[in-house]
Formats: sequence, C-alpha cells, structure tokens
Amino acid sequence: MIVSRILISCFCCNIVLASCLMAQESSPPADLSHPFLQVDLSPKASPVGIPKVETLSPKQLQIVNLGRKLFFDPALSVDGSTSCATCHRPEHGFSSPLKLPTGVADREAKRHAPAILNRHLGSIQFWDGRMETLEEQALQPIETENELANSIEAVLKMLAESDEYKKAFDAAFDDGVTKQNLAKAIANFERALITAESPIDRFVTARESVLTKSQRQGLWLYESKGGCWQCHTGQNYADEKFHNTGVSWGVGDLGRSEHTGDESHTGQFKTPTLRNAALTGPYMHDGSIKTLREVVEFYNQGGTENPYLDAKIKPLNLTEQEIDDLVEFLKALEGRYIWENPKQAEVVGDLEGSGEE
Ligand code: HEC
Ligand code: HEC
Repeated sequence: MIVSRILISCFCCNIVLASCLMAQESSPPADLSHPFLQVDLSPKASPVGIPKVETLSPKQLQIVNLGRKLFFDPALSVDGSTSCATCHRPEHGFSSPLKLPTGVADREAKRHAPAILNRHLGSIQFWDGRMETLEEQALQPIETENELANSIEAVLKMLAESDEYKKAFDAAFDDGVTKQNLAKAIANFERALITAESPIDRFVTARESVLTKSQRQGLWLYESKGGCWQCHTGQNYADEKFHNTGVSWGVGDLGRSEHTGDESHTGQFKTPTLRNAALTGPYMHDGSIKTLREVVEFYNQGGTENPYLDAKIKPLNLTEQEIDDLVEFLKALEGRYIWENPKQAEVVGDLEGSGEE
C-alpha cells in the first residue's frame, strides 16, 4: 500500500508537470528541471487547466490504461483494420492528416476528425454538438458504418473472450466487461489526453520570455484586432459553442441546424481548440482549408458572406506581416502531451494489477 501510494503520487506529479516529483527526487531528470515546471499549475492558477488528479486511485489509473488499449486496438472494428487512433492520430494532435478520414473498407467519414485534446474541458461533442458526454460518444464510432462498422454486442463478446481484456476489465471495474464500462474506459483515456505547457502558456502563466517578437505580436492580435479570443476562448482556446463562419457555404453540410432543426443554426459548427493547431491540419469541419496561413486569410476576408454569418466575423484588414504574426502565434500553441511523459507511462505500468489501495 505504501508502495502504491508513492507510485500514485509520482503519477500525479507527472500530470501536474512534475512539481511534486521534483520534491521527492534528489536529481530530477533534465527535462523536468525547467523552472516552468515549478509554478503552480493547479486549475485555479493555471490557464492550462490541468485537472486535480491527486485523488486518482489505482483503479482509476487502470481504467485509463484500459481505455488507452481499447483506443489503439483495431480488434474493435468489424474486420480488424481500424481503431480510433486510425483517425485520431497522436502525431497529428489526435486528428487526421486526411481531409475526410477513412474507416473500415476505406469508407470516408462525412467530416474532418476533430483533435481530441483537453476534452476534459469540453461540454459537448461533435462539430454539430449532437452528443453531450464522452461516454455517450465513445460507443458511437464502434457502430458507425464508415468508422469501425461493428456492433457493441460483438465487441463485448470479443472482450469477454479475451483473457487479457477480461482480466483488465475485472481489475478496473467491479462488474467487469459491460457496455457502460467499455464507454467509461475509452472516455477516461480521452480525458487523460491533456496537452499543456506550450510557449504561449509559458509566457502567459510563468512570464517566461520564450516568445519571438512575431509570436508576441500574434498573441496581441489574437486578443485585439484579430478578435479570435471571442470564440477561441478559455483554457482550451475553444468556447464549446457554435458559430457560422461561412466555411464551405453553399457546398458543405448545414452543421448544427441538421441536429437541432433550428434554421438560425444553419452553417454553425463547434469552435475547435487551437491547441497544437500546427499538427491538426487540414482545418475546419470538412478539412477544406489546408494551411494555418490560409485559415487566417479566410478570417481576414471576413469568412464567407451568408445570411447566417456570425456577427463577430468581419473583414479584419490585417497586413501581410500581421497575418504572419497570427500564424506564428498559432504555432506557439503547440505543447507537450502530459500522457506521453515516459515517466508517467512507467509508473502507470507499474500499477497494473495492484488492485485497490
Ligand atoms: C473513420 C475515422 C474515425 C474513427 C475510426 C473514429 N473517429 Fe472519432 N471522429 C471522426 C470524425 C469525422 C468526427 C467528427 C464527426 C462529426 O462531428 O460529425 C469524430 C469525432 C469524435 C469525437 C468528438 C470530439 C469533439 O471535439 O467533438 C470524439 C471524442 C471521438 N471522435 C472519439 C473517437 C473514439 C473514441 C473512436 C473509437 C471508438 C473514434 N473516435 C473513431 C472520425 C473517426
Ligand atoms: C465567431 C467565432 C470565431 C472567431 C471570431 C474566430 N473563430 Fe476560428 N473557428 C471558429 C469556428 C466555429 C471554427 C470551425 C469552423 C468550421 O469548421 O466550419 C473555427 C476554426 C478555426 C481553426 C481551425 C482549427 C481546426 O482544428 O480545424 C483555426 C486555426 C482558427 N479557427 C483560428 C482562428 C483565428 C486565428 C481567429 C482570429 C483571426 C479566429 N479563429 C476567429 C470560430 C471562430
């Protein structure tokens, strides 16, 4: 029990960027010794929004690990070809490099895959907000024809028949392999996909002079003349609300109104996060804009005129230099993945099978 307590506290430290780990280890590894890691990153103090995880039990850690295994496992698809990670790829900010990603039998998804980053801060799922919780969302791709094209029943059967999965479910949950637990494991892994500590965070939170002149200018433009903050707001640079910016107006799908049936929602899509934007292109709900520069040019011209255009979208009159600065700002939002910290993976690995405290 003492051992697992220490392991848990180490795990937590890694998530809160190693601040307490540093207190325990006499010589912290070089990558953890950065002064930024010593600042208070509690949710209250931080714009990064690292959740308090000090209370995670070994069981909860097992749930996250099980979710990770499920997320990357093509055995969840009908023909063993596709996993969640086929379309939500870690190296692309858990988005896809394809305009419209493909699932089983190369069937194209209807929209671009959104980046699954810091979704613990999110309150509504999909570009059109048709689902609320990550748990509810997690089961849906399993049965969608152009994603995993399987049935929940078949997946539950496969999991119950696999010694490894059965053991992992029994260790993580009191009632083993169930539909609810499948959803819970995947959703809780997604909540661990936290990205933070970008140069912008280091500047804003820790007042470190890490930004170039152009990035600083871009941050200023984001907050002033660019007006980006009006929608890309909060810790995840996304208001979790729906806006019509006119992307693919007239040729694309109708977005939120298809779900709500309310005409005033026509052409509205959920504001995506800007975190790790350099990795998540192509951009927008249909992947129709290739580069960050083209995205900023799109805003500079005032989106695409249409009867439902959001009142906040107007021509910006940015100079070429200002467009470049906003692009540099966007690139400076690339942060580390907390879950990828090798120390953390090591500790989580050690906890496997240790059961309740
Ligand atoms: C074939 C590609 C593909 C596969 C496979 C896939 N997804 Fe997605 N995912 C998408 C697309 C496309 C969307 C956006 C759909 C929309 O908004 O209408 C999406 C949306 C999401 C969202 C919503 C994020 C947000 O910010 O709204 C989550 C969460 C998610 N997927 C998780 C998963 C999980 C978990 C799996 C595996 C069980 C999975 N996806 C499998 C393509 C895929
Ligand atoms: C009125 C709200 C609003 C404002 C203001 C706004 N955005 Fe957006 N942004 C959105 C919405 C909504 C989308 C998704 C649109 C779509 O997919 O059709 C989006 C998409 C993006 C994307 C694509 C991200 C991705 O993963 O696909 C980037 C980058 C972006 N905006 C940057 C900016 C910048 C830079 C500014 C300021 C110049 C800005 N936005 C101003 C609402 C807004």
